[in-house]
Order: sequence, then C-alpha cells, then structure tokens
Amino acid sequence: MVVKRWVVDPYAYPEVYRFFSAAVFLGRRRRCYRSMLDVAGVRPGHAVLDLGCGPGILTALAGEVCGPGGHAVGVDTSPAMVRHAASQAGANCRFVVAAAEEYQAPAGSVDAVVSCLAYYDFPSAHRPEILKRAFTTLRPGGKVLIVELRPNLGYLGRGPGAVGLAANNISTVAMALADAGFGEVEVIRFGPLVHGVVGSKPVFRGG
Ligand SMILES: C[S@@+](CC[C@H](N)C(=O)[O-])C[C@H]1O[C@@H](n2cnc3c(N)ncnc32)[C@H](O)[C@@H]1O
Repeated sequence: MVVKRWVVDPYAYPEVYRFFSAAVFLGRRRRCYRSMLDVAGVRPGHAVLDLGCGPGILTALAGEVCGPGGHAVGVDTSPAMVRHAASQAGANCRFVVAAAEEYQAPAGSVDAVVSCLAYYDFPSAHRPEILKRAFTTLRPGGKVLIVELRPNLGYLGRGPGAVGLAANNISTVAMALADAGFGEVEVIRFGPLVHGVVGSKPVFRGG
C-alpha cells in the first residue's frame, strides 16, 4: 500500500500565518512586539536586523521606531513571506530572501538583532553560528533578542508551523547566547505564551 503524505508549507501563506500569530499573542501582538523592541534597546536612528522575519510585522514596527534616520532589515527563507512583508512595511524597511545562517550584515553595523518565533525553525546545527554572526553584526553595546513560545503549550505547541517549538527551552538559548560571547543574558516574559532571552555585546573599555 502506498501512503501518500501531503506536505503543506505553513510559511507559504503569510495571511494565514498572521491570523494564527494574532492568536498566539492573544490579541496583544502589537503591544508585545513593541515591548520586545524596548527590551532590545531599539531607538530612533537605529539599525535593526530581524532574523526569520516572516510576514515582517516586527520588522515593520522596528522601522516605525527607528524612524527616517534609521532602518530595519528582515531576513527570511520564504519568498512568499518576504514579498508579503515588503508590501506591508515602511520605506525604511528592506527584506531579503536568505537563510539566517548565511546572511551577514557588515560587522558592527547593527544596533539590535531580533528574532521572534523563528530560532527553533533554524537548523539546529546552524544555531550557534547564527548567534555568532549576530554578535559580529552588532556594534559594541548592541543587543540580541530571541523570542520563543513557552514550552508545554499543549495543542498550540504542536500546531501548524510550530514544529519543534513544543520542546523549546529558553535556558538552552540563554546558554547559547553566553557561548556566542553575549553578556547580561536575561530571560524576559512577554505574555502567557511567549518569552525571550536578551543579551548584550560587551563594550570593552581600555585601561
Ligand atoms: C514562526 S515564523 C515567525 C515569523 C515572525 N518572526 C513572527 O514574529 O511572526 C518563522 C519564520 O522563520 C523562517 N525561517 C525558517 N528557517 C529559516 C532560516 N534558516 N533562515 C531564515 N528564516 C527562516 C520561516 O520561513 C518563517 O517565516
């Protein structure tokens, strides 16, 4: 007997993804994303890199916060997501179809690297490399913020697009950030279903 397995790419439908993402944030997505940008230290004039940007909601908001003197770049492997993101965001936002493990902005060119609900989608073997690239990309004092679903979410943790997230472990991400060279690593809760870990690139002072 031939068993046919239908595989649907959940990231091929950005509008559908947006709908489910609103549910994950319990209708407070914009407020949660705004507080993520606060935690990541994003200010007017800054440059922000969003890894696994999906439909670009966080990237677009980063663009608003950075204002005309700053900019935000969203990186995602899904062309459909990138097309959608580019159609929704402001003029100071740019989107690139690329893998987070391959994309490298110039060293020291970015004030904040953010990644929301994407880290556990990145290939596990490449996650340390992605954090090291983030470290190189950031200016001294710049921050990285990795946001994920909290574990033990039952159905939500197993739902479409959440493959791999059910078993996520934020302390593993915290250790990986420390291994990549980040300091002041701290776990932050953004709501009942979502938490993240923030770290800073140390500023070395001579003397
Ligand atoms: C759950 S979505 C999160 C989207 C968005 N960050 C948000 O807050 O809604 C995960 C995204 O990661 C992207 N992705 C998966 N593997 C990736 C990789 N290696 N590099 C860049 N993006 C990747 C997927 O295409 C998808 O758009």
